[in-house]
Amino acid sequence: MTKKIIVAVDGYSSCGKSTIAKQLAKYAGYTYIDTGAMYRAVGLWTRRNGLIVGENVDEGKLKANLSNLQLSFHRLDDGTQHIFIGEEDVESQIRTLEASNDASLVSTIGFVRRRMVAMQQQMGEQKGIVMDGRDIGTVVFPNAELKIFVFARPEVRAQRRFLELTQKGEQTTYDEVLKAVEERDYRDTHRAESPLRQAEDAILLDNSDLTPEQQLNKAIELLEKATK
Ligand code: DC
Repeated sequence: MTKKIIVAVDGYSSCGKSTIAKQLAKYAGYTYIDTGAMYRAVGLWTRRNGLIVGENVDEGKLKANLSNLQLSFHRLDDGTQHIFIGEEDVESQIRTLEASNDASLVSTIGFVRRRMVAMQQQMGEQKGIVMDGRDIGTVVFPNAELKIFVFARPEVRAQRRFLELTQKGEQTTYDEVLKAVEERDYRDTHRAESPLRQAEDAILLDNSDLTPEQQLNKAIELLEKATK
Protein backbone atom coordinates (compact mmCIF):
# COMPACT_ATOMS: atom_id res chain seq x y z
CA MET A 1 0.00 0.00 0.00
CA THR A 2 1.39 3.34 -0.94
CA LYS A 3 -0.75 6.22 0.22
CA LYS A 4 -2.50 6.80 3.56
CA ILE A 5 -6.22 7.30 3.20
CA ILE A 6 -9.43 7.74 5.18
CA VAL A 7 -11.73 4.74 5.18
CA ALA A 8 -15.37 5.48 6.08
CA VAL A 9 -17.41 2.45 7.17
CA ASP A 10 -21.12 3.09 7.59
CA GLY A 11 -24.18 0.92 7.99
CA TYR A 12 -27.05 -0.21 10.22
CA SER A 13 -26.61 -1.29 13.82
CA SER A 14 -25.25 -4.76 14.53
CA CYS A 15 -24.32 -5.50 10.93
CA GLY A 16 -20.66 -6.24 11.66
CA LYS A 17 -19.34 -2.77 10.82
CA SER A 18 -16.97 -2.61 13.76
CA THR A 19 -15.55 -6.08 13.10
CA ILE A 20 -14.69 -5.25 9.53
CA ALA A 21 -13.44 -1.75 10.40
CA LYS A 22 -11.16 -3.13 13.14
CA GLN A 23 -9.80 -5.84 10.86
CA LEU A 24 -9.10 -3.38 8.06
CA ALA A 25 -7.35 -0.99 10.47
CA LYS A 26 -5.16 -3.83 11.73
CA TYR A 27 -4.36 -4.99 8.21
CA ALA A 28 -3.36 -1.47 7.09
CA GLY A 29 -1.72 -0.35 10.35
CA TYR A 30 -4.31 2.42 10.62
CA THR A 31 -6.07 3.91 13.65
CA TYR A 32 -9.57 2.57 14.25
CA ILE A 33 -12.28 4.87 15.60
CA ASP A 34 -15.66 3.57 16.74
CA THR A 35 -17.95 6.61 16.59
CA GLY A 36 -20.90 4.60 17.92
CA ALA A 37 -18.93 4.29 21.19
CA MET A 38 -18.85 8.08 21.36
CA TYR A 39 -22.65 8.39 21.07
CA ARG A 40 -23.06 5.53 23.55
CA ALA A 41 -20.80 7.31 26.05
CA VAL A 42 -22.80 10.53 25.61
CA GLY A 43 -25.98 8.51 26.25
CA LEU A 44 -24.52 6.87 29.37
CA TRP A 45 -23.30 10.18 30.75
CA THR A 46 -26.63 11.87 30.00
CA ARG A 47 -28.58 9.17 31.85
CA ARG A 48 -26.16 9.13 34.76
CA ASN A 49 -26.71 12.85 35.12
CA GLY A 50 -30.46 12.34 35.34
CA LEU A 51 -31.09 14.03 31.99
CA ILE A 52 -32.89 11.06 30.42
CA VAL A 53 -36.21 10.16 31.98
CA GLY A 54 -37.92 7.28 30.21
CA GLU A 55 -37.39 8.16 26.55
CA ASN A 56 -37.16 11.90 27.11
CA VAL A 57 -33.90 13.81 27.00
CA ASP A 58 -33.67 17.16 28.79
CA GLU A 59 -32.02 18.90 25.84
CA GLY A 60 -31.72 22.29 27.53
CA LYS A 61 -29.69 20.95 30.46
CA LEU A 62 -27.71 18.65 28.20
CA LYS A 63 -26.72 21.55 25.97
CA ALA A 64 -25.69 23.63 28.98
CA ASN A 65 -23.55 20.81 30.41
CA LEU A 66 -22.16 18.90 27.44
CA SER A 67 -18.88 20.82 27.48
CA ASN A 68 -18.15 19.13 30.86
CA LEU A 69 -18.06 15.72 29.20
CA GLN A 70 -14.48 14.62 28.53
CA LEU A 71 -14.36 11.75 26.03
CA SER A 72 -11.21 9.98 24.92
CA PHE A 73 -10.03 6.68 23.47
CA HIS A 74 -7.19 4.69 25.05
CA ARG A 75 -5.41 1.66 23.76
CA LEU A 76 -5.01 -0.99 26.48
CA ASP A 77 -2.05 -3.37 26.79
CA ASP A 78 -4.06 -6.16 25.13
CA GLY A 79 -4.37 -3.98 22.02
CA THR A 80 -8.08 -3.24 22.41
CA GLN A 81 -9.35 0.31 22.32
CA HIS A 82 -11.61 1.53 25.12
CA ILE A 83 -13.59 4.72 25.49
CA PHE A 84 -13.21 6.79 28.65
CA ILE A 85 -15.34 9.44 30.33
CA GLY A 86 -12.75 11.51 32.14
CA GLU A 87 -10.54 8.93 33.89
CA GLU A 88 -13.15 6.17 33.85
CA ASP A 89 -13.10 3.28 31.40
CA VAL A 90 -16.76 2.89 30.38
CA GLU A 91 -16.25 0.41 27.53
CA SER A 92 -18.30 -2.36 29.14
CA GLN A 93 -21.03 -0.06 30.51
CA ILE A 94 -21.79 1.30 27.04
CA ARG A 95 -22.45 -2.16 25.55
CA THR A 96 -25.79 -2.84 27.27
CA LEU A 97 -29.22 -2.71 25.62
CA GLU A 98 -30.12 0.35 27.73
CA ALA A 99 -26.98 2.17 26.60
CA SER A 100 -27.80 1.36 22.94
CA ASN A 101 -31.20 2.92 23.31
CA ASP A 102 -29.84 5.97 25.11
CA ALA A 103 -27.20 6.39 22.38
CA SER A 104 -29.91 6.28 19.76
CA LEU A 105 -31.86 8.99 21.63
CA VAL A 106 -28.96 11.43 22.07
CA SER A 107 -27.68 10.83 18.54
CA THR A 108 -30.81 12.49 17.13
CA ILE A 109 -29.84 15.83 18.74
CA GLY A 110 -28.13 18.35 16.45
CA PHE A 111 -25.75 19.96 18.95
CA VAL A 112 -24.59 16.53 20.16
CA ARG A 113 -23.83 15.47 16.57
CA ARG A 114 -21.98 18.68 15.76
CA ARG A 115 -19.70 18.21 18.76
CA MET A 116 -19.00 14.57 17.91
CA VAL A 117 -18.39 15.34 14.22
CA ALA A 118 -15.89 18.07 15.11
CA MET A 119 -13.96 15.62 17.33
CA GLN A 120 -14.05 12.97 14.61
CA GLN A 121 -12.78 15.31 11.91
CA GLN A 122 -9.88 16.28 14.13
CA MET A 123 -9.01 12.60 14.65
CA GLY A 124 -8.82 12.11 10.88
CA GLU A 125 -6.54 15.04 10.12
CA GLN A 126 -3.48 12.81 9.71
CA LYS A 127 -5.37 10.25 7.56
CA GLY A 128 -4.45 6.59 8.07
CA ILE A 129 -7.76 6.05 9.82
CA VAL A 130 -10.70 3.67 9.62
CA MET A 131 -13.79 5.20 11.17
CA ASP A 132 -17.09 3.42 11.57
CA GLY A 133 -20.51 4.94 12.17
CA ARG A 134 -23.60 6.12 10.34
CA ASP A 135 -22.62 9.46 8.80
CA ILE A 136 -18.91 9.06 8.19
CA GLY A 137 -19.06 8.90 4.39
CA THR A 138 -21.86 11.47 4.13
CA VAL A 139 -21.08 14.11 6.79
CA VAL A 140 -17.82 13.55 8.69
CA PHE A 141 -15.57 12.71 5.72
CA PRO A 142 -17.51 13.30 2.48
CA ASN A 143 -14.15 13.18 0.66
CA ALA A 144 -12.98 9.88 2.16
CA GLU A 145 -11.02 7.91 -0.43
CA LEU A 146 -12.84 4.68 0.42
CA LYS A 147 -16.43 4.41 1.62
CA ILE A 148 -17.93 1.07 2.53
CA PHE A 149 -21.61 0.67 3.40
CA VAL A 150 -22.10 -2.54 5.35
CA PHE A 151 -25.46 -4.27 5.25
CA ALA A 152 -27.08 -7.41 6.66
CA ARG A 153 -30.74 -8.39 6.82
CA PRO A 154 -32.47 -7.38 10.13
CA GLU A 155 -33.18 -11.02 11.11
CA VAL A 156 -29.52 -11.93 10.61
CA ARG A 157 -28.42 -8.94 12.68
CA ALA A 158 -30.92 -9.70 15.47
CA GLN A 159 -29.70 -13.28 15.70
CA ARG A 160 -26.04 -12.21 15.96
CA ARG A 161 -26.85 -9.52 18.53
CA PHE A 162 -29.03 -11.92 20.56
CA LEU A 163 -26.14 -14.38 20.83
CA GLU A 164 -23.73 -11.60 21.83
CA LEU A 165 -26.04 -10.28 24.57
CA THR A 166 -26.97 -13.66 26.04
CA GLN A 167 -23.32 -14.69 26.08
CA LYS A 168 -22.70 -11.62 28.21
CA GLY A 169 -25.48 -12.77 30.56
CA GLU A 170 -28.16 -10.25 29.54
CA GLN A 171 -31.72 -11.56 29.99
CA THR A 172 -33.44 -11.04 26.68
CA THR A 173 -35.26 -12.86 23.87
CA TYR A 174 -34.68 -12.97 20.11
CA ASP A 175 -37.99 -11.17 19.50
CA GLU A 176 -37.07 -8.40 21.89
CA VAL A 177 -33.71 -7.93 20.17
CA LEU A 178 -35.30 -7.98 16.69
CA LYS A 179 -37.77 -5.32 17.83
CA ALA A 180 -34.91 -3.17 19.20
CA VAL A 181 -32.94 -3.61 15.94
CA GLU A 182 -35.96 -2.54 13.86
CA GLU A 183 -36.70 0.43 16.12
CA ARG A 184 -33.11 1.60 15.94
CA ASP A 185 -33.07 1.20 12.14
CA TYR A 186 -36.18 3.33 11.93
CA ARG A 187 -34.78 6.03 14.20
CA ASP A 188 -31.37 6.00 12.50
CA THR A 189 -32.86 6.37 9.00
CA HIS A 190 -35.69 8.79 9.82
CA ARG A 191 -34.10 11.33 12.12
CA ALA A 192 -33.87 14.92 10.90
CA GLU A 193 -30.15 15.23 11.72
CA SER A 194 -27.80 13.22 9.49
CA PRO A 195 -30.08 10.24 8.88
CA LEU A 196 -28.32 7.02 7.98
CA ARG A 197 -28.01 6.68 4.23
CA GLN A 198 -25.55 5.19 1.82
CA ALA A 199 -23.31 7.84 0.22
CA GLU A 200 -23.58 7.83 -3.57
CA ASP A 201 -19.95 6.84 -3.93
CA ALA A 202 -20.02 4.19 -1.18
CA ILE A 203 -19.58 0.52 -2.03
CA LEU A 204 -22.26 -1.81 -0.64
CA LEU A 205 -20.97 -4.81 1.31
CA ASP A 206 -23.87 -7.18 2.08
CA ASN A 207 -22.57 -9.76 4.54
CA SER A 208 -25.87 -11.57 5.27
CA ASP A 209 -24.59 -14.70 3.57
CA LEU A 210 -20.84 -14.20 3.86
CA THR A 211 -18.47 -15.79 6.35
CA PRO A 212 -16.32 -13.31 8.32
CA GLU A 213 -13.35 -14.43 6.21
CA GLN A 214 -15.14 -13.82 2.90
CA GLN A 215 -16.19 -10.39 4.12
CA LEU A 216 -12.66 -9.49 5.16
CA ASN A 217 -11.25 -10.58 1.80
CA LYS A 218 -13.71 -8.36 -0.05
CA ALA A 219 -12.88 -5.38 2.17
CA ILE A 220 -9.13 -5.90 1.74
CA GLU A 221 -9.59 -5.99 -2.02
CA LEU A 222 -11.38 -2.61 -1.84
CA LEU A 223 -8.68 -1.15 0.38
CA GLU A 224 -5.86 -2.33 -1.87
CA LYS A 225 -7.58 -0.79 -4.87
CA ALA A 226 -8.16 2.53 -3.07
CA THR A 227 -4.59 2.88 -1.83
CA LYS A 228 -2.83 2.03 -5.11
O1 DC B 1 -22.87 1.61 16.10
P1 DC B 1 -23.52 1.63 17.47
O2 DC B 1 -24.65 0.64 17.61
O3 DC B 1 -22.54 1.49 18.58
O4 DC B 1 -24.18 3.10 17.58
C1 DC B 1 -24.90 3.52 18.71
C2 DC B 1 -25.93 4.56 18.32
O5 DC B 1 -25.29 5.77 17.90
C3 DC B 1 -26.88 4.17 17.18
O6 DC B 1 -28.22 4.44 17.55
C4 DC B 1 -26.54 5.07 16.04
C5 DC B 1 -25.77 6.20 16.66
N1 DC B 1 -24.65 6.62 15.82
C6 DC B 1 -24.82 7.74 15.05
O7 DC B 1 -25.90 8.32 15.03
N2 DC B 1 -23.79 8.20 14.29
C7 DC B 1 -22.62 7.57 14.28
N3 DC B 1 -21.62 8.05 13.54
C8 DC B 1 -22.43 6.41 15.06
C9 DC B 1 -23.48 5.95 15.82
